[in-house]
Amino acid sequence: MKTLIKNGTVVNSTGTAQADVLIDGETIAAVLAPGSSLLGFDVENNVDTVIDAAGKYVIPGGIDAHTHMEMPFGGTNASDTFETGTRAAAWGGTTSIVDFVVQYAGENVLDQFALWHEKARDNCAIDYGFHQILSDVQDSSLTAMDELVKEGVSSFKLFMAYKGVFLSDDGQITKAMQRAAQNGSMIMMHAENGSVIDLLVQQAVAAGNTTPYYHGLTRPWQAEEEATHRAIMLANLTGAPLYVVHVSAKQAVAQIATARDNGQNVFGETCPQYLYLSLEDNLGAESDEWGSFEGAKWVCSTPLRSREEGHQHHMWQSLRTNDIQMVSTDHCPFCMKGQKDMGLTDFSKIPNGIGSVEHRMDLLYQGVVDGNISLERWVEVTSTTPARMFGMYGKKGVIQPGADGDIVVYDPKGHTSIGVDKSHHMNMDYSAWEGYEIDGHVDTVLSRGKVVIDDNQYLGTKGDGKFFKRGLSQYLI
Ligand code: URP
Ligand code: ZN
Ligand code: ZN
Repeated sequence: MKTLIKNGTVVNSTGTAQADVLIDGETIAAVLAPGSSLLGFDVENNVDTVIDAAGKYVIPGGIDAHTHMEMPFGGTNASDTFETGTRAAAWGGTTSIVDFVVQYAGENVLDQFALWHEKARDNCAIDYGFHQILSDVQDSSLTAMDELVKEGVSSFKLFMAYKGVFLSDDGQITKAMQRAAQNGSMIMMHAENGSVIDLLVQQAVAAGNTTPYYHGLTRPWQAEEEATHRAIMLANLTGAPLYVVHVSAKQAVAQIATARDNGQNVFGETCPQYLYLSLEDNLGAESDEWGSFEGAKWVCSTPLRSREEGHQHHMWQSLRTNDIQMVSTDHCPFCMKGQKDMGLTDFSKIPNGIGSVEHRMDLLYQGVVDGNISLERWVEVTSTTPARMFGMYGKKGVIQPGADGDIVVYDPKGHTSIGVDKSHHMNMDYSAWEGYEIDGHVDTVLSRGKVVIDDNQYLGTKGDGKFFKRGLSQYLI
């Protein structure tokens, strides 16, 4: 099967060119000057499918390096399965995800890894890889880290919050970092001071302050800045590379920027919710059927930050200046009915998470339209850097010969209205992005050469997506 995408504007992170893209089977075979022949071979008349991308951008498929499909969390499971979540991702121009295998205290890491393979295998619409969550860092977890690197899982997430659920203490974190420094893997950190947060939550609930707004107020930026600094110091001590996930506070960005200026291998990820949404959303609206509990729709951790304090503006700026390197979604969806409403009378019982896997490419493209980032930076933060950060580059994250045929034809003159009854395919009964209007549209999506989305139709099947083994981060020597 040969496909030619002709007349488009090919956008890589390195630049933009008018070019035709020839895909042979699952792989990009050539990037050609428009209309040119290949060694006398008339390309257009010798392919099975021609996609006319005139006036459109042809970009490498999005890579969402932070998702939680069907994650057991907060007394329930994230509402998107691997099947529904990866299909929604495809609709939005994301052709690869890296999801998190969960290990709770006492569980065996390799057993959990096998279990996650079971969950994902033959169910995904797009390609997928795994990071591994470590909680209690047993001796067997350390040897499992070495095993997993060989299995293509080269990154490990630790938590400084969620005591009794995920939290690793500083000694456990240090142990895991020492092992990462030896085997070349990346430590990913949920950087919030869990003890401080637990105290503030306890005090708020005891005082009768139980609405979703208090979720944000009890997870202040100081708790994020302090934990980010501590993680950086432990990484410095051990020599481990550090990737701070879901950064929302401008003060945490400053810690990351300082560490990078000092030459440390420290990286930062933010998410669309920290670019657009704010703590004030947690107030909810009395006009909504849920009243002030509507604010639960935006309960996630790290929390949304005050707009008055300017975190959102600072986050766009940090993306531009490369103080923050990439954007993932932290897709962890829960429905309002039957899930978020577990916290109706106590915000601390609201499952933490927002669903955005379908909308990341669009929301970040709106950043191009609004003048916050360039077209090439859009591709870089949503595809190329995730590929390089997590050992996928060459196959993923770029349009070049030899790369997988993961391609999105994006129409800058198109339009996307986001909402549960509009462009929403995630398994959620609400959208955190209801009413957002995007000045662009995902027209066609190819996953390893197969057209899976075209003309507002899903053409793929579950099981199209395959597990990929990742190498080590290409930002490390
Ligand atoms: O609120 C969030 N972020 N839920 C998912 C778990 C995590 O910490 O990434
Ligand atoms: Zn986290
Ligand atoms: Zn997460």
